[in-house]
Amino acid sequence: MLLYPRVTDADLDAVAAAETRIHPFPWTRGNFADSLAAGHGAWLALEDGRMIGYAVMMQVLDEVHLLNISILPESQHDGRGTALLMQLFDWARAHAATRMLLEVRPGNVSGQRFYKRHGFVEIGRRRDYYQTHEGREDAIVMARDL
Ligand SMILES: CC(C)(COP(=O)(O)OP(=O)(O)OC[C@H]1O[C@@H](n2cnc3c(N)ncnc32)[C@H](O)[C@@H]1OP(=O)(O)O)[C@@H](O)C(=O)NCCC(=O)NCCS
Repeated sequence: MLLYPRVTDADLDAVAAAETRIHPFPWTRGNFADSLAAGHGAWLALEDGRMIGYAVMMQVLDEVHLLNISILPESQHDGRGTALLMQLFDWARAHAATRMLLEVRPGNVSGQRFYKRHGFVEIGRRRDYYQTHEGREDAIVMARDL
């Protein structure tokens, strides 16, 4: 069973360590700490008391921006990301959001497939948004009505 407690400062080391296993260009511990300090929503996905993922989301009026959704590599492709995303939809609706936005790297094909399966469509690009090994790359911006 999955539970979704809020991320606290005490979780940051574990979250940042997981992030380096999940993403080729991981958020730093400081990025997560900044998100908490800014008041963004941040949740752990727990299974049998063990963290298997997390998500960070920012609300601006009636829109929520999904900043990070991550499932540990060994726990992916078994419905957990979907379950976590559904919880985020529920939270956003309960907080009067009508749309969810996110950015994804053009090279993250499985991430894009995951989002498309869950109703997101591309609405634009942000130029030079992401760091790469060679320089910068654009972000695909996706959105979904809630
Ligand atoms: C994107 C991410 C959050 C999705 O989480 P997940 O737990 O893997 O998601 P789900 O299992 O719900 O769905 C993903 C895949 O599993 C498949 N799947 C879901 N339930 C399944 C099941 N019971 N049995 C077999 N396959 C299943 C889905 O068809 C989907 O397949 P695909 O990716 O090959 O198209 C996760 O893969 C992840 O953290 N990726 C790395 C970080 C990342 O890219 N984050 C998002 C962009 S920044």
